[in-house]
Amino acid sequence: MRGFEHFIHKHIVLDKSFNIISEKIFDPSKDRAYSKHDISGYSNVLFVLSICNLHDTWLEPVKLS
Ligand SMILES: [Fe+2]
Repeated sequence: MRGFEHFIHKHIVLDKSFNIISEKIFDPSKDRAYSKHDISGYSNVLFVLSICNLHDTWLEPVKLS
């Protein structure tokens, strides 16, 4: 990420009903856009949102086994 010019603001993990399971807010002055979330106990599918200050919000489904 390039400081405050272009950065990932937040990652959010949602369950299959789009309830928030976990989220990580980044500080663009020191953080990389990397996050770990406890998804133990979940199966089927989850969704991950990545929110960028320039490019809006991205949604990615994650298929779990
Ligand atoms: Fe972006």
